[in-house]
Amino acid sequence: MTHDSTAIVTGGGGGIGRQICLELASRDCDIVIADIDDAGMDETAELVEAEGQVGRPLHTDLSDVATIESTVDAAVEEFETIDVLVNNAGIAGPTAPCEDVETDDWDATMAVNLTGPFAMCRSVLPHMKADGYGRIVNVASVTGKRPLANRTPYATSKMGLIGFTRTLAAEVGAHDINVNAICPGSVDGPRIQRVFERQAEATDRTSEAVRGDAQADSPRGELVQREDVAGLVGFLCSDRADRITGQDINVSAGKVMY
Ligand SMILES: NC(=O)c1ccc[n+]([C@@H]2O[C@H](COP(=O)([O-])OP(=O)(O)OC[C@H]3O[C@@H](n4cnc5c(N)ncnc54)[C@H](O)[C@@H]3O)[C@@H](O)[C@H]2O)c1
Repeated sequence: MTHDSTAIVTGGGGGIGRQICLELASRDCDIVIADIDDAGMDETAELVEAEGQVGRPLHTDLSDVATIESTVDAAVEEFETIDVLVNNAGIAGPTAPCEDVETDDWDATMAVNLTGPFAMCRSVLPHMKADGYGRIVNVASVTGKRPLANRTPYATSKMGLIGFTRTLAAEVGAHDINVNAICPGSVDGPRIQRVFERQAEATDRTSEAVRGDAQADSPRGELVQREDVAGLVGFLCSDRADRITGQDINVSAGKVMY
């Protein structure tokens, strides 16, 4: 990533994605924010502009390949090059034993968490190859590395995303395109609070107890902050990381060590 780069960040309308937008903007990147949350995207765009960079919200539904393609086309038309793609958006999917998971919920989770990143990469790669440069970061999860009972669709999608990351990295390294995955542990914020509440319901405990267990599950005894994940995205897109590709790097307060 050099001065005046352009990044597409999916799910940049809130949560970790917004923090990633701000991290990349602080590194002189213009940001295309691709999300379904129009109000959230506008807020992120304002924050990016306050950093002195262009923040361009483009309504994109990752479960609709046609909108992915039109977003990439619009981004290329406006900014000419796409230097960075961060496939951050993801949904939690259902919390239920496998035999109770509806096919529609399974498909919806795969669409956003796995097919969306694939389709984004497929659209962006010809441009990155033409430029001879690209940095792709896929936000997976520690649940992409170890099982999480009652979350088969989510875990399977994130395990698939790590496999996709490695395979794509092997394909495109010769074009100076790096592809890495970040595997966050539980990141503090409203989304994880909702997950804790659903887990609490499914296991007949309080959400405080589930949160306490999540914290105790790491050597540092704490949850991860959004800035921790965003900072690693910034590093992976910097020239200090030119020879890092095909990796899945945990940001989990030590919760997962492989
Ligand atoms: N929060 C955590 O504890 C945690 C832990 C591990 C991994 N992750 C991963 O980090 C990523 C970001 O998580 P978050 O906590 O910021 O989530 P979040 O729910 O706060 O934000 C997700 C963003 O994605 C957008 N989005 C949802 N569906 C979309 C769709 N169909 N098309 C386009 N955008 C869509 C939402 O509007 C939202 O802005 C996800 O991939 C998630 O799986 C999160």
